[in-house]
Amino acid sequence: MRTAPGRRLINVAFLFLFLRPSRCVIAVVKMATSCSADLSKTVKQQYMELPQGGMVQAMYIWIDGTGEGLRCKTRTLDFEPKSIEDLPEWNFDGSSTYQAEGSNSDMYLIPAAMFRDPFRKDPNKLVLCEVIKYNRKPAETNLRITCKKIMDMVSDQVPWFGMEQEYTILGTDGHPFGWPSNGFPGPQGPYYCGVGADKAYGRDIVEAHYRACLYAGVQICGTNAEVMPAQWEFQVGPCEGINMGDHLWAARFILHRVCEDFGVVASFDPKPIPGNWNGAGCHTNFSTKEMREEGGLKAIEESIERLGKRHSYHIRAYDPKGGLDNARRLTGHHETSNIHEFSAGVANRGASIRIPRNVETLPLPGKRRGRLDKGWREGCWPCCHDDHRNAQAGS
Ligand SMILES: *[C@@H]1O[C@H](CO)[C@@H](O)[C@H](O)[C@H]1NC(C)=O
Repeated sequence: MRTAPGRRLINVAFLFLFLRPSRCVIAVVKMATSCSADLSKTVKQQYMELPQGGMVQAMYIWIDGTGEGLRCKTRTLDFEPKSIEDLPEWNFDGSSTYQAEGSNSDMYLIPAAMFRDPFRKDPNKLVLCEVIKYNRKPAETNLRITCKKIMDMVSDQVPWFGMEQEYTILGTDGHPFGWPSNGFPGPQGPYYCGVGADKAYGRDIVEAHYRACLYAGVQICGTNAEVMPAQWEFQVGPCEGINMGDHLWAARFILHRVCEDFGVVASFDPKPIPGNWNGAGCHTNFSTKEMREEGGLKAIEESIERLGKRHSYHIRAYDPKGGLDNARRLTGHHETSNIHEFSAGVANRGASIRIPRNVETLPLPGKRRGRLDKGWREGCWPCCHDDHRNAQAGS
């Protein structure tokens, strides 16, 4: 039956009214993202493809006075640096980074590690720097300098580290990415290593970060979705000595920078959402040459005993707030240990130190029965945003 024009108009109006509310709903549900993320990346690309006339952009990166925040600025070099020695020192205004009093605000940036720049691409560089003060003493936040000394002292033991950095993706309003604005997603269970739009929140960021790290030359060795939705993990290692911290901080910087492009924020807070949601940590694997050799389990056990004696000292060193941040996470629930107790166990996720089961029980090749009594131990308590140079030095 043909509808009269008047009737059709009413239908259209009805349709309009019907559609409107749902559009509003979409607007409300839209994630809080930064406005610079909405700028056209295609237009930007046009400029990024321009030749750079033999010049090299070097982005210097350093840790600010909070001990966890990162800062960066760029300078032009008229040559391509091939090693860290080729890079000039630089300075910055420490009074704007919580690092110096206004009267003596110059701080110096000492290049410490160089990576390829995955954002501006070759031949441009990312340069991780140590910070020293106007009097050339290390800044309070410069934990690398002591860590490096210790690593050099024990280099004959060939210390290896692997670190598992957990993080949470947040909107610019601090609300976890993809969570309903007035409520919570379904309870934990399906998200860890999950796949599917209802389980993996923000995979684009994880993929972009992974590839950018590989391009940069960061020794990233894997990623996975974590227990809480919008929580992810990347792993870096195995790295020898001081390289561990350099590669982990570079990976953190790249993550912040990737999130900036997408208009969201990466949080390393150890307990971003209070209550029945998993926190975020930075499990650390550690071994020495002796531990990796035949009979190494004995060395592992001895080192665990020594760690136990200094537990509270270590806990204080594992986050920028002297252990307070980590106390929110290490409750003894949600696969964590209790912050006040030191514990160690085979394959125990609730322990401070876990000896992986395969170290304890795997049959050795060539032996009929026996134990693979060598390998590494895993520290499960360092906090997510620790300057793990402390965790390293403590190991
Ligand atoms: C740490 O050790 C565990 C085994 O306990 C392993 O599955 C994991 O890949 C290691 N991570 C790193 C970053 O080395």
